[in-house]
Amino acid sequence: MTDYLLAPSILAADHARLGAEVDAVLAAGADWVHFDVMDNHYVPNLTLGPMVCAALRKHGVQAPIDVHLMAEPVDELIRMFADAGASLISFHPEASRHVDRSLQLIRDCGCRPGLALNPASPLSHLDHVLDQIDLLLLMSVNPGFGGQKFLPQTLPKLQQARQRLDAIDSRARLEVDGGIGLKNIAAIAAAGADTFVAGSAIFKTPPYAKTIAALRAALPKADPS
Ligand code: DX5
Ligand code: ZN
Repeated sequence: MTDYLLAPSILAADHARLGAEVDAVLAAGADWVHFDVMDNHYVPNLTLGPMVCAALRKHGVQAPIDVHLMAEPVDELIRMFADAGASLISFHPEASRHVDRSLQLIRDCGCRPGLALNPASPLSHLDHVLDQIDLLLLMSVNPGFGGQKFLPQTLPKLQQARQRLDAIDSRARLEVDGGIGLKNIAAIAAAGADTFVAGSAIFKTPPYAKTIAALRAALPKADPS
């Protein structure tokens, strides 16, 4: 039985009340805090830095913080986010000249490494590093903004990614990011995802506990046997 994880993206939260927003989604049943880092260089938007991650830890957040770097270069940011309390750090392979080294750096810093692939980025990026990752993040929208529409070509790509992970008995999480909501979460799970980022679908749809319960209820049920 797959253990599904929900990772609300705080990109869609009320940033004037960020600590309270994170407390609220975690109290409502969220598993991870998805933390989108955009640099106005790798993507055309500018969001959160390591100070905000450290502030959430200081505020008392204990849940895993899932840092998604949409920034380049990545190595210095990896060190800063590890110091700031990140749990998982993923980056886009195009944003590092030395992908293997950056993955190793994340682990050496005490975090769990992930690779993030854009909709048009092929799974061949995984060819020589698949056994080194704890997280594979497939983007189901082009990175840079919340509230975009889920790209359906993500589903066959997800199935292929699931096969590749299963073929090496990988325990890496398979996370999908962008445009996820009540209408498509079941199909995304059926295609092989086990971890779901949702920004707008959660933060723009209070009460959070009701929304999170509905998302979970839409997921395949445990096999009683
Ligand atoms: C997009 C970000 C996503 C985004 C998802 O570049 O990586 O995490 O916040 O937001 P929704 O769920 O609104 O598509
Ligand atoms: Zn993200």
